[in-house]
Amino acid sequence: MTTRREFLALGGAAALAAAAPGRLLAGAAPHPLRILILGGTSFLGPHQVAYALGRGHSVSTFTRGRTTPSVHAALFRDVEQLIGDRAGDLDALRGREWDAVLDNSGSRVEWTRDTARLLVDRARTYLYTSSTGVHYPYLADDITEDSPVSMDWPAGVESGDDGSLDYAVMKARSEREALEAFGPDRTLVVRPGYMVGPADRTNRFAYWPVRLARGGTVLVPGKADDPVQWIDVRDVAEWMIRLVEREAAGTYDAVGPASETGMHRFVHGAQASFSTPADLVAVDDHDFLAEHGVGYVVPWIMPTGNNYGSARIRPTRAVAHGLTYRPLADTVRDFHAWWESDAVPAERREGLVSDPRSLMAREADILRAWWARG
Ligand SMILES: NC(=O)c1ccc[n+]([C@@H]2O[C@H](COP(=O)([O-])OP(=O)(O)OC[C@H]3O[C@@H](n4cnc5c(N)ncnc54)[C@H](OP(=O)(O)O)[C@@H]3O)[C@@H](O)[C@H]2O)c1
Repeated sequence: MTTRREFLALGGAAALAAAAPGRLLAGAAPHPLRILILGGTSFLGPHQVAYALGRGHSVSTFTRGRTTPSVHAALFRDVEQLIGDRAGDLDALRGREWDAVLDNSGSRVEWTRDTARLLVDRARTYLYTSSTGVHYPYLADDITEDSPVSMDWPAGVESGDDGSLDYAVMKARSEREALEAFGPDRTLVVRPGYMVGPADRTNRFAYWPVRLARGGTVLVPGKADDPVQWIDVRDVAEWMIRLVEREAAGTYDAVGPASETGMHRFVHGAQASFSTPADLVAVDDHDFLAEHGVGYVVPWIMPTGNNYGSARIRPTRAVAHGLTYRPLADTVRDFHAWWESDAVPAERREGLVSDPRSLMAREADILRAWWARG
């Protein structure tokens, strides 16, 4: 219990952190920072907010005010919520100063150009949230932070297939805009791979926690040793805050886990989160999976063609600069608890099971075809 006197002595966000029920105290940072998150209310943002407040920092978010957080919602009472639009209304950012800017919502090159130029003399560090997608097409075995990125549409590769190239070029060019404005000593570029965990707005990873929790006969796509990579969104969020605390700079690929992992090792690790008995059926023929429209179930991406190396990324520099990984069992269990909570609408849960495009809805038919094939 914190008395009023102790509350006042602690001061600001640190006091709120101590007093707010359910808040995780991350341990105070050496110097409280003023952090601006461009975005902040969807997936990555709320985890950054929670960790930053827990470290004693103050946080402003900049959004259109449309998206509401599905985790840590109560903490937003302690956040300055600035409203505007990256597409043309940056007024709420003018005349203000921050120590660090986290640009999560930079999904157009000119958006990052405009905010980086606007804030260059008003913030020390600019962190652009990029993506390992800049390395697409993933044709190499050993992709590192220094590997080439798709600054343009590479010769011989068609644009417009599934949007991957457009995304790669947009992210790579946005990185460049941040760097050009803030310079190499004040710019951080963090490129997460597939982020998974509570508050995910996609259903890319949900199959594993939801399906393994149900048990029974479970379709496992991919070969045993198909490489897989993922990262818990909280590991990215928390490391980003620690990076700006250290006034770090540089470009980092943020993927996990800590050591090379094959598909079956991932599935067994994920299954360990539940006590439900499950029979895992390895459907390990890439051609068969492609015929049945199963090209990916994150973290598994069929490692062929332009996706050959998508899970062969070496985050050497990120690990050397303090990126850490929580256990897979924590990620799967926490995702499942969030998925089953009121934060997720019942229709979304139902859709994962019954939408005819979802793997869960098609699983029994695909398994029948697999067994019929002999
Ligand atoms: N998910 C992954 O696996 C993954 C992997 C690699 C990289 N990334 C990158 O990670 C970043 C994080 O995304 P996130 O959604 O988790 O971040 P977030 O900060 O939690 O949410 C995105 C925010 O952008 C705001 N926003 C959207 N359009 C806007 C506009 N026109 N003007 C102002 N604000 C706007 C949204 O709020 P309003 O709707 O209220 O405006 C929302 O708060 C993205 O850049 C993504 O490319 C994601």
